Parts: sequence; structure tokens; C-alpha cells
Amino acid sequence: MQEKNRTLGEFIIENQEDFQYSSGELSRIFNSIKLASKVVSYKVNKAGLVDIVGAVGAKNIQGEDQQKLDVYANEIFIQTLTNREIVCGIASEENDDFITIKGKDNGNNNKYVILIDPLDGSSNIDVNVSVGTIFSVYRRISPVGNPVQLEDFLQPGTAQVAAGYVIYGTSTMLVYTTGQGVNGFTLNPAIGTFYLSHPKMKCPKDGLIYSVNEGNYIHFPQGVKDYIKYCQQEEEDRPYSSRYIGSLASDIHRNLIKGGVYLYPTSCKAVKGKLRLLYECNPMAFIIEQAGGKASDGVNRVLEIIPTSLHERTAFFSGSYNMVEKIEDCIHKAY
Ligand code: AHG
Ligand code: MN
Ligand code: MN
Ligand code: MN
Repeated sequence: MQEKNRTLGEFIIENQEDFQYSSGELSRIFNSIKLASKVVSYKVNKAGLVDIVGAVGAKNIQGEDQQKLDVYANEIFIQTLTNREIVCGIASEENDDFITIKGKDNGNNNKYVILIDPLDGSSNIDVNVSVGTIFSVYRRISPVGNPVQLEDFLQPGTAQVAAGYVIYGTSTMLVYTTGQGVNGFTLNPAIGTFYLSHPKMKCPKDGLIYSVNEGNYIHFPQGVKDYIKYCQQEEEDRPYSSRYIGSLASDIHRNLIKGGVYLYPTSCKAVKGKLRLLYECNPMAFIIEQAGGKASDGVNRVLEIIPTSLHERTAFFSGSYNMVEKIEDCIHKAY
């Protein structure tokens, strides 16, 4: 069968061996994510026509104003995964604490937990710019049969079994890895089916684009300021172009396809960075590494950070391998 005629469902069945330890559970998790993302995609496409844009008037645990679509996407993903009783727990950017799911026969017998940023890029909803969903799957470490524990969610990114993102952009795409490379699927909205459109995605080792909220420049550490100045110098293939969407999934997606680097450093305003290690950085880091890129907090490999709390934040530099190395070098030299 030609690559482009392959549906996501067929691709998962053909690549069952990539779904480690799987007794079909991981495939079923993917089926649920696929379904929920189609529902969210449908709603996003109608934003402006239905009452789905704007804030709900509440703050989430991150201290952010929740948007209606944040709440909607959160409910859809949690409901879909809960109804199918295939994970033992879910942690979400939008919820204070993790949710325990008992599974079939109230048995706490499910083996996987899922962590999710249901709607990434909230600030772009009202202005018709791409938003996304980011997810991460781990095998639980607490004994099966007992309710899921906090420790099941606080595993380092290296323990991820699968991770992916969905972009609700000019087209809706789902990109995922199970640790055997990265593949991207595009939704044909007419028939509601994802097709393999980007097989074996590879992040170019170098790029010509840097992506950062430069409005915060004054607050950045010296090493990051030095790197930004390096990007802007006139030399060889520089100055680089600057592109910043403000939706992590979309900015990383561009790096993955075209090459480039994304920066969200610590700053005086956000002393630990802004992005969430578990819902945003680890899944994107897993995907970028699987595509040959690199993800760092400026010093350490993001995937090796040992999490200590659900909503923990980190600095994040990710994209083309050599560009992230250069950032680490600038940060190291500025110490
Ligand atoms: P979310 O919408 O899930 O809260 O994530 C927003 C994140 C990320 O997607 C984006 O890159 C970054 O925050 C933008 O932050 P700034 O507005 O501070 O640049
Ligand atoms: Mn948010
Ligand atoms: Mn996000
Ligand atoms: Mn979000």
C-alpha cells in the first residue's frame, strides 16, 4: 500500500511491535486520542460561529485564565479516555490533581497513565491561529490492582512509552512516537480519517530560524541574550529569521519540518521557566530526539530531569541538534 493511503488505524496495526508490552491497550489509548482530537478539531474549526471563544472567568492551577476551549478540550480528552476504561490515571495541565480511573470491574488493573496539555496555545484561539494538544504516555510503576499513585506520573521523560501532539492548523495533524521514530498523519476532514502524510520525520541538524518571545529579552539570562545576539549577527548564513507562533506544538512542528530552534528560558519573571515539564516539555523532547533533534533545559537533557511535582516548570530549548548545542555553549560560557 502506498504510504499516503495508509490510515493511522492501519499504521498502528502494522506497527504493533512498536507498542512495547502492549496487549492492545496502547493501541486503544491511541484510538481514544484520535477520536477526541477529531471532536476538538471539529469544534476549533467552528470557533467564531459557536460560543467557544473567550475566557470562562476562572483561573487554572497554573494561574492562567482558562479559555472556553481549554475547558472543552480537557473535558473531551478526559471523558473519551475515562469512558473507555483503558488508562489507570490522567494528569492534565487544567486540573489541580491527577484523576484516578478504576477501569473494568473496578479493578485498577490498567497499566498506563496519560499526561496531557489538552489545548496548547490558548492565547491564539481568539485570533484564528493554530492551537494544539500534547500528550504523553507512561507505564505505571505502582503495582497493578491498586489505585494509581503520584509516583506513576512523576517519572522522568526517558520512561515515556509514547508521546504525541495534534495541531489544529491549516490542516489537522497528529504526530507521534513510540520510541521508533516519528510519524505524522493529516486529517481528511471530509471523511474524518487521519492518513500517513509525513513518514519517518527527521529534524534537520541545523536551521535558519529561531523562535522566542523576544519581548521578555530584558529578563533573560546572559547566555540566552548572547545566543539571541548571535542569531542576529551578519555572518555566513546569519542573521537567522525569527518566527514565534506562541503555540509550543506549532513552533516545534515547524522546527521538526524546516529546522530551527525554540527557546523558552528562565527569566526574572518566570524563575523556573514557563513551560510545564510533564505536559509540554517531555513529550515534545521525546519527539524531537526521536527525529534526531535535541531538547535541553540549558544544561541538562530535558528527558533526564527527575520530576518532583505535577505542574513543575522548566526552561526549554529544543529543535535542530546543532542549534541547541550552541545555546548550551552560550549558557555555559556566560556562567
Ligand atoms: P498553554 O496554552 O497550554 O497554557 O501553553 C502556552 C505555552 C506555549 O504553548 C507557548 O509556546 C507559550 O506558552 C507562550 O508563552 P508566552 O505567551 O509567554 O510567549
Ligand atoms: Mn494554559
Ligand atoms: Mn501548552
Ligand atoms: Mn494548555
